[in-house]
Amino acid sequence: MRPKNARGWHSQEIPRDVEKDVTKVPEGIDIRLACPEEAQQLSAMARAMVTDMASYGGHAVSTEQSSWDELADMFKGQIEDADYRCLVAESSEAKLVGFAGGEARLLGGAFEQKRTLHISAVYVLPEFRSRGIAESLLKALLAWGREVECAEAELNILRDNPAYPLYEKLGFMEFQRHLLRRL
Ligand SMILES: CC(C)(COP(=O)(O)OP(=O)(O)OC[C@H]1O[C@@H](n2cnc3c(N)ncnc32)[C@H](O)[C@@H]1OP(=O)(O)O)[C@@H](O)C(=O)NCCC(=O)NCCS
Repeated sequence: MRPKNARGWHSQEIPRDVEKDVTKVPEGIDIRLACPEEAQQLSAMARAMVTDMASYGGHAVSTEQSSWDELADMFKGQIEDADYRCLVAESSEAKLVGFAGGEARLLGGAFEQKRTLHISAVYVLPEFRSRGIAESLLKALLAWGREVECAEAELNILRDNPAYPLYEKLGFMEFQRHLLRRL
């Protein structure tokens, strides 16, 4: 299907396509809620995630240990917050091999009110990639978003991130551009 606007989709034209969301978890992988005790491991995976993202043109990564300790505390808070969902993928050897996180946000102000699932992080360890783990994590997040009555899901992706086809496969469509300039 092609967008009406040659440069992308208008938000209200994006079709709802729930058939794409049937979850099939890869063999030997368990997708479950993260626990507060895993906050340090999540912070380490988030660090690896932004390091990968920097290689696709993203922002430089913090070298301060205190940033990662603060992030671990943030994860702990999010795991206990009903508006957030942090999921992990665990291997049969009880190793965390990936995670995904999202927040149910209320869009309001100048806009008609609606709840939106903002997907803030997705990461899978390099040796576990291309087995459908990220797809399973994302589908489980989308299912939660629907459960908490989000009307849509959104995320940001760097222009040069090769993961774009994964999101397209899940029904995400480009409707906005994020601009940056030096000062
Ligand atoms: C993006 C990421 C989470 C995908 O994890 P994954 O478990 O390998 O994803 P899946 O197996 O569910 O889907 C793989 C498909 O997504 C696309 N894809 C995802 N990452 C890709 C990459 N680095 N290079 C090429 N294609 C990629 C391809 O279509 C791929 O299909 P294929 O394996 O048949 O070629 C993982 O590559 C990662 O952690 N990357 C670094 C962090 C990152 O960029 N996160 C996303 C921020 S928006």
